[in-house]
Amino acid sequence: MAQKIRKIGVLTSGGDSPGMNAAVRAVVRTCAYHKIDCVGVYRGYEGLIDGDFEPMDARSVRDIINRGGTMLKSARSDRFRTPEGRKIAFDNLKENNIDGLVVIGGDGTFTGGLIFNKEYNFPIMGIPGTIDNDISGTDKTLGYDTALNTAVEAIDKIRDTASSHNRLFFVEVMGRDVGHIALNAGVGAGAEEILIPEENLGLDRLLESLLRSKASGKTSSIVVVAEGDKTGKNVFELKDYVDENLEGYDVRVAVLGHMQRGGSPSCYDRVLASRMGVKAVESLLAGESNYMVGIQHEKMELYPIEKAIKGKTHINKELVRVSEIMTT
Ligand code: F6P
Repeated sequence: MAQKIRKIGVLTSGGDSPGMNAAVRAVVRTCAYHKIDCVGVYRGYEGLIDGDFEPMDARSVRDIINRGGTMLKSARSDRFRTPEGRKIAFDNLKENNIDGLVVIGGDGTFTGGLIFNKEYNFPIMGIPGTIDNDISGTDKTLGYDTALNTAVEAIDKIRDTASSHNRLFFVEVMGRDVGHIALNAGVGAGAEEILIPEENLGLDRLLESLLRSKASGKTSSIVVVAEGDKTGKNVFELKDYVDENLEGYDVRVAVLGHMQRGGSPSCYDRVLASRMGVKAVESLLAGESNYMVGIQHEKMELYPIEKAIKGKTHINKELVRVSEIMTT
């Protein structure tokens, strides 16, 4: 029989994402609602090893639903990859009478949680917090919606200057190995071309497409490039390639970078975080473990963490087609 949960720890780990604070708030308040204790663990798994814990109550999480970043801080922990590090973490949890953990992060966070559970049979519940939207078992990860809006806003601004100077801009967006941010922000910002790892356009077709754009009367262009795309080695190489192979183009590069991870979460992410936090705590209390809380067709669902880590997300083919039609 599953052990009774009286105290839950919550941590944020890996790359931060907007909405992590809202999720921490939801976890803490759901614990308060069910009259169980909650402990914040600072700096992800690093804090678990260092015993960097702080008891939290409903008031400790006031005024954070709107804040970007994570008040619990985040880290990528090499020590937690070792059995010795995990043993210290387990001892700290036992010493503090913590009997379940909510881990908020991406696949690295989930992998750590899963290994820890296998070694110590410690109850774990995951909340997918990453801007990349690269976790299977959930239609959206926490922070993705905000990152899309941030990227679109930035690209809109780049378009203003691109158009004033009749320039071509390569704009690199984040997303690690997947193109969800690039495709959606590209369509949303009206990009002329979108380069994503899932659909290799190739350098020749890129040149053709740029020439077509020019011939159709466009004086400036935005090409959104996912950081994981392999058309060129990177956006700077794409610029060099166009400089060398096309005449009459004034090319610039903008890498949006970590600004996409910051900022106040969108309403969508705040609501999603609140729902995920409630579901995570109540699932632990119901004796569940090794699941991730996902949203599927607007419903909160539990999805095995193991499948979430190993699964692949799929690019929206219909949206790829829409983007092709929009660039006519
Ligand atoms: O996973 C989130 C993410 O922002 C990716 O989009 C990006 O590739 C990576 O993290 C950057 O990581 P770091 O913060 O270590 O530079």
